[in-house]
Amino acid sequence: MVVAEEIGSPLATKAPTPEPEGPAFSHEEDVVTEQVKQTVFSGVQPSGAMQLGGYLGAFRNWVALQDDDTYDVVYCIVDLHAMTVPYDPVEFHRLRLDTAKVVLALGIDPTRSLLYMQSQVPQHAELAWILGTLTPTGVLNRMTQYKDKIDKGIPSNLGLYSYPVLMAADILLFHAGLVPVGDDQKQHLEMSRDLAARFNNRFGEVFPIPEPLIPETAARVMSLAEPTTKMSKSDPNPKNRIDLHDSPDVIRKKVKSAVTDSDPTVRYDIDAKPGISNLLEIMSATTGRSIDDLAAEYETGGYGKFKEAVAEAIVAELAPVRSRLQELDDAEVARILQKGALDARTRAERLQQQVRDAVGLGRV
Ligand code: AMP
Ligand code: TRP
Repeated sequence: MVVAEEIGSPLATKAPTPEPEGPAFSHEEDVVTEQVKQTVFSGVQPSGAMQLGGYLGAFRNWVALQDDDTYDVVYCIVDLHAMTVPYDPVEFHRLRLDTAKVVLALGIDPTRSLLYMQSQVPQHAELAWILGTLTPTGVLNRMTQYKDKIDKGIPSNLGLYSYPVLMAADILLFHAGLVPVGDDQKQHLEMSRDLAARFNNRFGEVFPIPEPLIPETAARVMSLAEPTTKMSKSDPNPKNRIDLHDSPDVIRKKVKSAVTDSDPTVRYDIDAKPGISNLLEIMSATTGRSIDDLAAEYETGGYGKFKEAVAEAIVAELAPVRSRLQELDDAEVARILQKGALDARTRAERLQQQVRDAVGLGRV
């Protein structure tokens, strides 16, 4: 259990629970294997440059779970989700490929992980429709991410409203039991669990109930310039975040200009010192040292010295990602995605047939 121990998530499942319906499927060999592995599923939207928050909150766990061979891992570029907010089709097309490239550069290895583009596997949309018929609109009305987006002026549309149903379909399509995500996805995960249970009650046991895997440190990395809001790739101000594409110099500049406060003591206090607390979390997550230990070392040395150390910790952590990014070419990424889509479709079709049979849509 590499992840549970290393990252110390309170929500980590300590032991893999076997899928109830039988042996796991190996996408690599296209055969049913003897070994029963728990399926991991997660997704990322191609809606902007990948950033440090997602890296610390979720993607590091993606890699750790792949590297732990007790899991069968499935990762998806969730492009259908990214269409729920206004976008430019040309830029979107570019971002889909770029997001896949960054996922590969993080260390996702297509011979050990199934990686594909959501829109190329139509079973996602089909399952979302079926789950939508089990979703009371009252539940969707309570989704905070939807309300936040509407409050920010994003135009309401049916896709944005039913976004969590598609997310539940993503997870349940592959019968995933474990979902590595950042803290902001908790409510969506609750709804996925609820929909799995509803489906099973109504139609018989088909889906495992998925567990979120959220790290203890840096589960919600905050913006550098506005440390009371989340670091996000959709933030129009690029100074608010560290992009995984940023060069070491850009990273140093951004950390140097991060908003702090006027009391020059380095200590963890989310309310009084949100900027410094955020930097402490980032440094703890990137160095593996505890927040207390870091606060003790940097407490009185001044913010300048502390920020330099934070920047160097980030630069060192992202160096391997940066060098892999430079090696990958677009044709190779496209080839990996094509193979991934074929494997994902075959696997999803097999599992989706169980759903069709259960709900009365079996072959006539
Ligand atoms: P997104 O980039 O919004 O598609 O998110 C991809 C993954 O990164 C999701 O699991 C998010 O929960 C996680 N994530 C995004 N931003 C942050 C953040 N600021 N802190 C922690 N996790 C994050
Ligand atoms: N909603 C997630 C986000 O914004 C992305 C996502 C879509 C996802 N489907 C998923 C994450 C399934 C985990 C599992 O980050």
